[in-house]
Amino acid sequence: MILKTAKEIYISKNMSNNLQINDIKELISLDDKEVQQLKCDAYKLTEKHLGRSIYLRGLVEFSNICEFDCFYCGLRKSNGNIKRFFASEEDILEYAKICNDNGLGSIVLQSGQNSSEPFISKVERVIKLIKNATKSEVLPNGLGITLSAGEQKHETYKRWFEAGAHRYLLRIETTNEYLFRQIHPPNQTFQSRIKALENLDRIGYQVGTGIMLGLPGQTISDLANDIYFMKDFGIDMIGMGPYNINDETPMSSYSKWWESRKDEIIRLSLKMIAAARLAMVDVNIASTTALAVLSGRSKIEAIEYGANVIMPRITNENHRKQYYLYRLLGNTDVFNDDYINEINKKLEKINRKIALNTWGDAPHYFMKQDKNEA
Ligand code: 5AD
Repeated sequence: MILKTAKEIYISKNMSNNLQINDIKELISLDDKEVQQLKCDAYKLTEKHLGRSIYLRGLVEFSNICEFDCFYCGLRKSNGNIKRFFASEEDILEYAKICNDNGLGSIVLQSGQNSSEPFISKVERVIKLIKNATKSEVLPNGLGITLSAGEQKHETYKRWFEAGAHRYLLRIETTNEYLFRQIHPPNQTFQSRIKALENLDRIGYQVGTGIMLGLPGQTISDLANDIYFMKDFGIDMIGMGPYNINDETPMSSYSKWWESRKDEIIRLSLKMIAAARLAMVDVNIASTTALAVLSGRSKIEAIEYGANVIMPRITNENHRKQYYLYRLLGNTDVFNDDYINEINKKLEKINRKIALNTWGDAPHYFMKQDKNEA
């Protein structure tokens, strides 16, 4: 079979608004030569719909306490080798100040899964405190707050939304239900993950989701379905990263197999970003830390394939060390005083620039609102 070029696929689909599962499958199956075209098209399309701006979100890993037991994740409750923490309000406010002082515009508060009332009310209080502490002339509504704190009840999501968070990240991990069951214990279900995403959407959050790539048993069709799911659901933000081994998890038994597939997974991750951009022109797509860790290369690479968001880690060394999701996470992409300059220097070479002091919401969200109101 002769594969169509990326361009032919999306031009024939009316500038990408109508990519079907098979088209996506073809895009992520392109060989190395054809990928250049895909990359170039995704890059141009990003500029056309989102401009040249790259947005930063300060990532704050505020608690590693987790009641879930995902077979791939270092924070799983059965992992007794990490010290559990919940950062103090003072620490979290200090992190918010770092974001504000450096013009980052948005903060992402990320934690393990915790549905206890003390956790919920602490998060609620912290959201309000950050909002109050970060209002300024350039950001009259304070820092944009994204939460990423797992599956919660509708009521909890609503409390946090009313406290001032306006975006939420909850990865579906994979849309293949069988595979979902393979990598999670029986009490964590695909259905409840979907329900949580629907609740977030209903409440009015800008909703982000994503998947892990390169899972044992995952096929190209699965990945094409994953992108189609995000498009069909109307997701506003995407974070897709390769699955990386964590030696303290049950899935570390795949270590050898995973080592032998690294290069392929890196290439696939980049193609997935480009294909997601072609399928969803106006969403925010993150250049993930998991990809930077696996490739050992800079986060700029994913930007060239259509990503437009970078999330440097603000969390201090002490907390970072205990937020050990997978091998070699270590000090990857830690924010420092030179961070913005260094990234901007690299971005300049590819005609992109960091936009400071703005929330940087995805236009997709506002288009969706307009449609709902019409
Ligand atoms: N490799 C890559 N990503 C991982 N995550 C957790 N463990 C791993 C791993 N071993 C991601 C999952 C989860 C988020 C907290 O981190 O996608 O949603």
